[in-house]
Amino acid sequence: VGEEDAQYLVSLIRSVPNFPKEGILFRDFMPVFADARALQILMRALEAALPVPADDIDAVAGLEARGFLFGPALAAHLGKGFVAVRKAGKLPPETVSESYSLEYGEATIEVESDAIKPGERVLIVDDLIATGGSAKAARQLVTACGGTVAGFSFVMELEGLDGIAELGDYPTSSLLRMP
Ligand code: ADE
Repeated sequence: VGEEDAQYLVSLIRSVPNFPKEGILFRDFMPVFADARALQILMRALEAALPVPADDIDAVAGLEARGFLFGPALAAHLGKGFVAVRKAGKLPPETVSESYSLEYGEATIEVESDAIKPGERVLIVDDLIATGGSAKAARQLVTACGGTVAGFSFVMELEGLDGIAELGDYPTSSLLRMP
């Protein structure tokens, strides 16, 4: 995408100080999804930045919740299926689960065990990578289902948290790096 389109996209990301708690600068993407032009730019930008060629991807897996906002749109844009990586307890059996640690406590995510076919090459997507805990857990899920992680695509990477380094040696892309 051109510089003007990239600027337009960035201009719609709202930064909200002290949300959801004191000291956090919250990056709000909702205005991007609400804007027809920005949403199209986002699809084209994610496609252009894919960490592997689209032909080497069989499915797109998105993380709840914000990976659900654009993951299916990206999958359709690329002509792939979409796999929902949900918070625990929402999907009917059979599921595969993986737990990971948060700043305080633990979280568990799940996929339906037949959502990924053995050998499928899966692109994992989320809006934002911070410490990388949930992305790493999603990687484990894909592998546990017999799939292969083709790579990771993020819209935004929070600098200084080194989330991408946590993911290991996988092709990874992020559109924006922000403090
Ligand atoms: N998730 C983790 N850190 C975040 C931030 N600063 N803004 C939005 N989502 C986040």
